Amino acid sequence: MELGVNIDHVATLRNARGEIFPSPVHAAFVALEAGAFNITCHLREDRRHIRDEDVRLISSLTKRLNLEMAAENDIIKIALEVMPGSVTLVPERRQELTTEGGLNVLNDIKKYEEINKEFNSKNIKVSAFIEPDLKQVEAAKKAGFDYIEIHTGSYANKIRQNEKSAELGRIKAAIDFASRIELKVNAGHGLDYKNIYGVALLDGIFEFNIGFSIISHSLFVGLGTAVKEMLNIIKSAELSKLKNTVSKNIGEIKN
Ligand code: PXP
Repeated sequence: MELGVNIDHVATLRNARGEIFPSPVHAAFVALEAGAFNITCHLREDRRHIRDEDVRLISSLTKRLNLEMAAENDIIKIALEVMPGSVTLVPERRQELTTEGGLNVLNDIKKYEEINKEFNSKNIKVSAFIEPDLKQVEAAKKAGFDYIEIHTGSYANKIRQNEKSAELGRIKAAIDFASRIELKVNAGHGLDYKNIYGVALLDGIFEFNIGFSIISHSLFVGLGTAVKEMLNIIKSAELSKLKNTVSKNIGEIKN
């Protein structure tokens, strides 16, 4: 399982003082150096954090850029010029603090089919940020997305263990179904150093996209260390799954 680091909030801090630092471009390379597989940034219509020049500069330096964006013509035009390695389509509302809810692909399959064809013709992979809802997963496949990113926000927001387990069940069902219909699966939103472990124990996730918790933790430990600590948790979940598989196999051999 890989880690994508969302660097939007480095730009939030920079913009708060109208400065040129801290630089999201610098952050992107510290995160990649620390072991991140991808960098994600969200070019919002109101440009509240990441700006066009950030996206252009990062993309000119690495193809390991996942551009999060609304499916709006002016942003699609920029993405097609900048040519990131991949894009993730998200719903976007001006007043929201962060992306709320997943994309309704089911309502607009034709529209997304056209967008996907355009990106794919330029070798740009496209992901749909959706709720763990089987109908949306099926619609994403029909619309020709390469990936889905499962919105883990509801899981992250639950406090009671039984509610968390129910959300994990929904996420697992969505991953299993996506894998059966050959859609690759990413996951993200609201994941932190405590709640990631439960999701990382599930099979079938290619990449986690995590921003706020890593950037917040980096204030105290530095960005490289914050990325490495998150990677260590992901690796320890992988190791635990591997141990389970090995002991199951040994059990079967003994029987
Ligand atoms: N994935 C998507 C599609 C998002 O919109 C966001 C938030 O920008 C994230 C992942 C990262 O969420 P968080 O900042 O809560 O880790």
